[in-house]
Amino acid sequence: VTKAVILVGGPSRGTRFRPLSLDVPKPLFDVAGHPIIWHCLQAVSKVPDIKEVILIGYYDESVFRDFIKDSSKEFPQIKIQYLREYQALGTAGGLYHFRDAILKGKPDRFFVLNSDVCCSFPLEAMLKLFEEKDADAVILGTRVSNEAATNFGCIVSDSHSKRVLHYVEKPEGHISNLINCGVYLFATECIFPSIKSAIKRKTERPRVISYPSSENIETSFVADLEEDGEKKEVLRLEQDILSDLADSNRFYVHETKDFWRQIKTAGSAVPANALYLQKAFQSQSEEIAKPSATILPPVFIHPTATVDPTAKLGPNVSIGPKAIIGPGVRVKDAIVLEEAEIKHDACVLYAIIGWNSRVGAWARVEGTPTPVSSHTTSIIKNGVKVQSITILGKECAVGDEVRVQNCICLPYKELKRDVSNEVIM
Ligand code: GDD
Ligand code: GTP
Repeated sequence: VTKAVILVGGPSRGTRFRPLSLDVPKPLFDVAGHPIIWHCLQAVSKVPDIKEVILIGYYDESVFRDFIKDSSKEFPQIKIQYLREYQALGTAGGLYHFRDAILKGKPDRFFVLNSDVCCSFPLEAMLKLFEEKDADAVILGTRVSNEAATNFGCIVSDSHSKRVLHYVEKPEGHISNLINCGVYLFATECIFPSIKSAIKRKTERPRVISYPSSENIETSFVADLEEDGEKKEVLRLEQDILSDLADSNRFYVHETKDFWRQIKTAGSAVPANALYLQKAFQSQSEEIAKPSATILPPVFIHPTATVDPTAKLGPNVSIGPKAIIGPGVRVKDAIVLEEAEIKHDACVLYAIIGWNSRVGAWARVEGTPTPVSSHTTSIIKNGVKVQSITILGKECAVGDEVRVQNCICLPYKELKRDVSNEVIM
């Protein structure tokens, strides 16, 4: 038996996803026509052995109710449930707290997926490596540029045996450009004892925290509360567990050559949308709009949206439920959310148009493309850091002929004049 756990976090997280997370919890935000976690679920549903998925987080119970109801119909072979942490317990704390639920039915192994990644989730390949090596754990890795690597967990591996030799979470200096994708497969008999000994270590002896300074390294002991006021119940897979697993000699990495992106900032929904649409297009999904003179694939149009036949859409465009796209409109690399309206001859590029927003006639709402290999959604323009993707929050209005460039616009704002490189509050 195999299970899967999806770590969905809670309302205190996803702050970088504002302003979009002000109106919808990040895991439920639609990319390529489906909530971010639906894409995780869909990947899990392709593994024949998995009959149960547990979402763990600290959002209110009601948050995932409808999603679970709909998904249970769509993936009837899988039992889906949400388990709520009474407070943020960290990526390993939640697993440990709900170990009885995970262990029920005696699974020999289970997947753990971070909900905020966009990837092809090569779970079968991870299972294969897991079995081949009789592993304790398999982590999914991908190569990124040296500059990007230190923003992630870094993996030093033996390329021949695929064994993980060292693991360091967000190191200060360069260690490796093979990084943690936030997808794991754990042997049940190994991971819970590992977490247990991490807890023991934490409670028995005070944590050593070092403060690197320019001259010397000072060390101080912090007992109950950590630096950032984090509770001692908080246990993180990355910091508290993975580096120990590397010492066990049975921790392996599957390196994916397929796409992978993190979904942190609101702007990162645009590349995620593009990658999932391309995946759906390649697998000839019925959901992708039929290519034509005005539809450049891949494009997703919700069945309840109204698109004028003279509007030109794509590539990499999602049009949400009940959205209205007027004549002569051009949309490319963008997400148009539910009930938004784009008036005639307007142009939306590298942007997200929030729920119920209005874009006036001949207006331009645009961001700047970033290369797929870049793992950031900010760019340097005239020496200052700005948003690459323009985002309109819920119920914003852009006047006729107004140009909005590289901006983030909070909900309920009206833009009557041209703006660029700004956060409009
Ligand atoms: N249930 C629960 N409880 N989930 C949590 C908690 C918690 O207390 N804290 C974080 N999560 C979830 C988040 O929603 C997210 O899906 C995942 O766990 C990881 O979030 P972070 O702890 O913010 O880590 P990160 O995203 O900065 O980095 C992690 O992911 C990278 C890949 O995207 C690390 O695993 C990195 O090593 C990795 O490279
Ligand atoms: P492609 O022609 O799609 O390859 O785009 P491009 O990369 O040559 O141009 P750009 O990215 O600047 O613009 C993308 C699309 O939007 C182009 O097809 C333009 O014709 C169209 N476009 C640009 N500005 C406007 C505008 O103000 N109104 C409308 N309706 N379309 C526009």
